[in-house]
Amino acid sequence: MRRFAVAVDGPAGSGKSTVAKAIAKELGIIYVDTGAMYRTVAYDCIQKGADLSREEEVAACLEEMKMEILPEKGGQRILLNGEDITTKIRTPEIGKGASQVAVYGSVRNHLTRLQQQLAAEHSVIMDGRDIGTVVLPQAEVKIYLDAGVEERARRRVGELEQQGRTADLETVKKEIQARDENDMNRALNPLRCAEDAVRLDSTGLGIEEVKEKILSYIAEKI
Ligand code: C5P
Repeated sequence: MRRFAVAVDGPAGSGKSTVAKAIAKELGIIYVDTGAMYRTVAYDCIQKGADLSREEEVAACLEEMKMEILPEKGGQRILLNGEDITTKIRTPEIGKGASQVAVYGSVRNHLTRLQQQLAAEHSVIMDGRDIGTVVLPQAEVKIYLDAGVEERARRRVGELEQQGRTADLETVKKEIQARDENDMNRALNPLRCAEDAVRLDSTGLGIEEVKEKILSYIAEKI
């Protein structure tokens, strides 16, 4: 089969990564979590004590940083200067930092190139905020996955509790709303539903139902 790309965009907690991983596994293609790449930049900057509100400090870290994306069955591991930081970046603080560094052109251009390279080499399902609009505008299938903010906050609390953390629903909801606000209103490549994307609301739907719907769109197009 020829190479193809599935772009999945949507706000935090809409279920993109869970569903995209399951689809990657089922189709035997590569899953690329672009949010993890923005998180890695934030993690590295924070480790180095850089000020995230200054693009030149973030860009300086970016120049020295060696980020490696290792696709694996049903997921992705991410190495920073040889260290596996896949789980270390899954915190609300790093999520907030990712949203801060994601406004800079230097960061977006750098990561967009890496993401385009991965899609040029493999069939991919890639999730993020600007995949269907900017990174892979030629993707064969584009999905915009959304869900109500209450439900997204509940899902995030569940994920955090699974990691052994305690989380307050109202606090998580406020963090998600702040991140949506940032991601939808930034000047560069804001979160938008591409004109040719299928919009899917996962509120009240289980993972299996969303997965089946997306698989049927893929089957129609590929
Ligand atoms: O998806 P995740 O919550 O891990 O993304 C973290 C942050 O990275 C997002 O809130 C967003 O600001 C940024 N991001 C982005 N473009 C992408 C993926 C993520 O701006 N393609």
